[in-house]
Amino acid sequence: MTSSAPHPFSLASNGPLGGTISVPGDKSISHRALMLGALAVGETAISGLLEGEDVLATAAAMRAMGATIERLGPGEWRVHGVGVGGLLQPQTALDMGNSGTSTRLLMGLVASHPITATFIGDASLSRRPMGRVIDPLSLMGASFSAAPGGRLPLTMTGLCPAVPLDYTLPVASAQVKSALLLAGLNTPGHTVIIEPVPTRDHSERMLAGFGASLTVEETPQGRRITLAGEAELRPQVITVPGDPSSAAFPMVAALIVPGSDITIANIGINPTRAGLIEVLRAMGADIGLDNRRTVGGEPVADLRVRHSVLTGIDVPPALAPSMIDEFPILFIAAACARGTTRATGLEELRVKESDRLAVMAQGLAAVGVAVEESADGLTIYGTGGDPLPGGATIATHLDHRIAMSFAVAGLNARAPIIIDDRTPIATSFPSFLALMQGLGAETR
Ligand code: S3P
Repeated sequence: MTSSAPHPFSLASNGPLGGTISVPGDKSISHRALMLGALAVGETAISGLLEGEDVLATAAAMRAMGATIERLGPGEWRVHGVGVGGLLQPQTALDMGNSGTSTRLLMGLVASHPITATFIGDASLSRRPMGRVIDPLSLMGASFSAAPGGRLPLTMTGLCPAVPLDYTLPVASAQVKSALLLAGLNTPGHTVIIEPVPTRDHSERMLAGFGASLTVEETPQGRRITLAGEAELRPQVITVPGDPSSAAFPMVAALIVPGSDITIANIGINPTRAGLIEVLRAMGADIGLDNRRTVGGEPVADLRVRHSVLTGIDVPPALAPSMIDEFPILFIAAACARGTTRATGLEELRVKESDRLAVMAQGLAAVGVAVEESADGLTIYGTGGDPLPGGATIATHLDHRIAMSFAVAGLNARAPIIIDDRTPIATSFPSFLALMQGLGAETR
């Protein structure tokens, strides 16, 4: 979905960053709001929806399967659902662009409907493993024909009624968990999922909000989620909080640019997403959580972030799922810190929009940072607070978070850090450059 002509750019700072900004709505919550709205009978009203390419791919797919989805204004959307079990067969292939979340969650929805759907995506998405959803959805009765290695393009046919599943997640993945819960909505009986390592729980919260019968228990094996199938979902009014994964970029920008003091309003601080704040605070970051409140069933706060002298730490591997998308920008903070940061247990980063361990290690080395890559992590030797040498062009590999991370690094660099292509940023954070300019950064 991103245009083919690359647009190189760089960010530079001209003094401290300051001001108050709001970042777009949470990507994970936006996908789920469209999908559950499309399965409820009646009108779901969504405000603050992220209008990034990934979420627009979900909207287009839900329309192709029968839902009516309208945009009334910026972030204001209405969804008229077809009811659980009511999805129609799409007439053309579903183009998922760059979005793994759209692909895996929608595969779950299709699995328990009597329809056939083909999923296609860009070069990045077509490299990502789908076996993690193909395997359990096959146990439920869906059938698949995929490219070698269980990749896109992929055609699947759902089974109705599907077979209820009792499944322990072999990989800590909210996408897999959510795909199975969505499949379970139109499946008779109870779908049981055990996650030994907790992951983001937006699906559980939102399913309960839509009226599904769902219980979550802590057991010695992990969190045990039980969903009653053949659910009837009631339409909702949903306000999507700001995305903590997007807020992470201006947050680290303010931490590493001397004299900065910014506020990022209305950010989701769900504990299953807030690991970055915990880790940055352990490194010495001055991050305040003001005006804590609940918005749409999710905890929210305004983040006050001031420039801080950071010190490297060993990042607790147990925190990884609660900050899985934030490691690229954490590595930039670590590069600007005093001392050494070690992060392990991150093999999942190799199957994100790019191989984020390899791409970050190469990029950090290119901008003059001492870094060691292992099979499951990075060790980063910080500059001690000095600016990064810079003076390199970074290949983004169709990965929005690589682009934004090295753009932020350019704010604290002696020579420009050029990002080879800005277009991937539109998948999750279309207003990134405008907001960074609003805080005082210069775009070149
Ligand atoms: C997401 C889950 C995570 C995350 C992705 C969004 C979700 O993926 O990286 O950006 O919305 O469920 P995994 O489930 O693969 O860890």
